[in-house]
Amino acid sequence: MKIAIGADHGGYPLKQDLIPFLSAEGHEIIDLGAHSFDPSDDYPDFAGAVARAVAAGGTERGILVCGSGVGASVAANKFPGVRASVCHDTFSAHQGVEDDDMNVLCLGARIIGTELAREITGRFISARFSGLERHQRRVGKVKGFERDFAK
Ligand code: RB5
Repeated sequence: MKIAIGADHGGYPLKQDLIPFLSAEGHEIIDLGAHSFDPSDDYPDFAGAVARAVAAGGTERGILVCGSGVGASVAANKFPGVRASVCHDTFSAHQGVEDDDMNVLCLGARIIGTELAREITGRFISARFSGLERHQRRVGKVKGFERDFAK
């Protein structure tokens, strides 16, 4: 799977761990920065880059890492077509895809450790949207909000 990944200074070390982990699983990882540790960088810059890649299509999923995951999630959800959420447990990581068609996973590197982050990421990547009628209906209503604001 083609996956875009990004992180600010709060998530940089965890991003650097996740890239080889995901690559070893056979995924194509697009690293949209930060490309070095800069304690004064800003999470919207990386959230925007990953969200744009996912919204444009061609990149199936995104992963964002900041200190809490919250800022990245808030920023990414401003982009039409992006359904981002913080998940710090494995159930949310796969059910968010299966039921809600979540396409961007946000992690807080100051909250969870490397091993749990790897497990959560793995469950997120291997999950697929169920396509069940009730979930299509609900996601369709969410997409309707985007259409309303685009007018
Ligand atoms: C940066 O210090 C921190 O605020 C950021 O990584 C993130 O936690 C925001 O939600």
